[in-house]
Amino acid sequence: MTQENIVWHDFKLKKQDRADIKNQQPCLVWFTGLSGSGKSTVSNALDIALHKRGYHTYVLDGDNVRHGLNKDLTFSDRDRIENIRRVGEASKLLVDAGLIVMTAFISPFRDDRKMVRSLYVPGEFIEVFVNTPIEVCEQRDPKGLYQKARQGAIKNFTGIDSPYEPPESPDLVIDTSKETTEESVASIIAFLEARNVITPSTDSDK
Ligand code: ADX
Repeated sequence: MTQENIVWHDFKLKKQDRADIKNQQPCLVWFTGLSGSGKSTVSNALDIALHKRGYHTYVLDGDNVRHGLNKDLTFSDRDRIENIRRVGEASKLLVDAGLIVMTAFISPFRDDRKMVRSLYVPGEFIEVFVNTPIEVCEQRDPKGLYQKARQGAIKNFTGIDSPYEPPESPDLVIDTSKETTEESVASIIAFLEARNVITPSTDSDK
């Protein structure tokens, strides 16, 4: 589709203006990993932890977004690429609104995650690889989908008959088979503090 007759309108109020009234640095914490690896659980816990500290956050989650904005998309490679493209763009709007955004999508393809990173200013896109082994994800099987995939009732299931490309240099790696949700959240919070996205906690935050 051509964009030759569409001219970008430059709005006066900027991302930094919106972020300043919230005393926060907007960013996108992008969780990637297999189904059942713990992306939704950790992003939910991180969301709560940041909210408690007074930050304005929002979570976009694969299963939920596929009920609405992306309900026209399947799990073909082509549709997964479109899924991630839309989520990257939707998150960009939320980051532009000044929020700390978390996304929990398998996002199996390296190039797509790279493409999303390129939409953001350096440092704003934080890739968290949820590196929980597939054996553990399959054993958890919270939605019974691995079992269905093994039986051939679901095609193109990530890790079974559809690939997952692990990040080569993620900003952070967590493994929910080795650490508790609280420990994963603590390591992400420490990272966000080190990056000055949020300010270090005081005792009153705890
Ligand atoms: S992505 O690959 O396009 O990034 P997304 O995160 O939106 O995936 O959705 C993944 C969720 O959809 C899984 O957690 C699982 O519950 C469900 N699902 C249904 N079919 C599949 C499939 N073929 N492969 C992976 N996940 C699937």
